[in-house]
Amino acid sequence: MSADRDFAAATPGQQSWDPGRYARVARFVADLGMPVVDLLAPKPGERILDLGCGDGALTKKLADMGVLVVGVDASAEQVAAAQRLGLDARVADAENLRLPPAFDAVFSNAALHWMKKPDAAIAGVARALRPGGRFVAEMGGAGNVAACRSALTEAIARRGIDPSPLNPWYFPSPEEYAAKLEAGGFAVRHMELFERPTPLPTRLADWFDTFGEAFLAAVPPAERAAVREEAEALAAPKLRKPDGSWFADYVRLRFAAVKA
Ligand code: BEZ
Repeated sequence: MSADRDFAAATPGQQSWDPGRYARVARFVADLGMPVVDLLAPKPGERILDLGCGDGALTKKLADMGVLVVGVDASAEQVAAAQRLGLDARVADAENLRLPPAFDAVFSNAALHWMKKPDAAIAGVARALRPGGRFVAEMGGAGNVAACRSALTEAIARRGIDPSPLNPWYFPSPEEYAAKLEAGGFAVRHMELFERPTPLPTRLADWFDTFGEAFLAAVPPAERAAVREEAEALAAPKLRKPDGSWFADYVRLRFAAVKA
């Protein structure tokens, strides 16, 4: 596989990833990723790039299937966690990926929506694939976490802070992302948008803490806990179940495309 110098330096944003917190609050992200692995249909011996591999939970599943998998992620902490699983994982900026066309497939779960320059990400994927190589992924799609986001932004706006420039996420419609894939040299074979209300293992306040850092960073540190509590109370009518447990209003965009 490529030498380390092929991987551009990461440019982390305001979102940070603590592998311990992620495992406690967000293990479901990988647990619910198997359908996109099924869509990928990996074969033993294939060379596959896992784009945004996080702590490597799904990357490990690919490795265990006999795939020659390389994981890349912008978070050095998550890459270190993936390496502790014995994986080939490297720090890289997915919006500036410059790898030779050595891969049979690029796989991505729950990462592309953090890439606010989707055309640059798609171009990097196309560069990394051999002709005929597959790009198979799942990400947040149009309407994703709308209730979570509106509660958090409302709690922030109440403090006189405009939340609109803080949004770290890109949740496209199927039409928009298909057009981008086609413009990037892909033929789209599969594209679906579906709601996936997702039970949370802990409080919604913890979800805000883990995933909403770009919003919370705009609030003075001493007020962040209060913002999380307030946002949770605002979301409760939509996202708290009668038994007191929580879910998040996820909407997934799942696709498969082939490099022409
Ligand atoms: C997602 O997987 O769709 C997602 C995760 C965290 C924040 C926003 C979206």
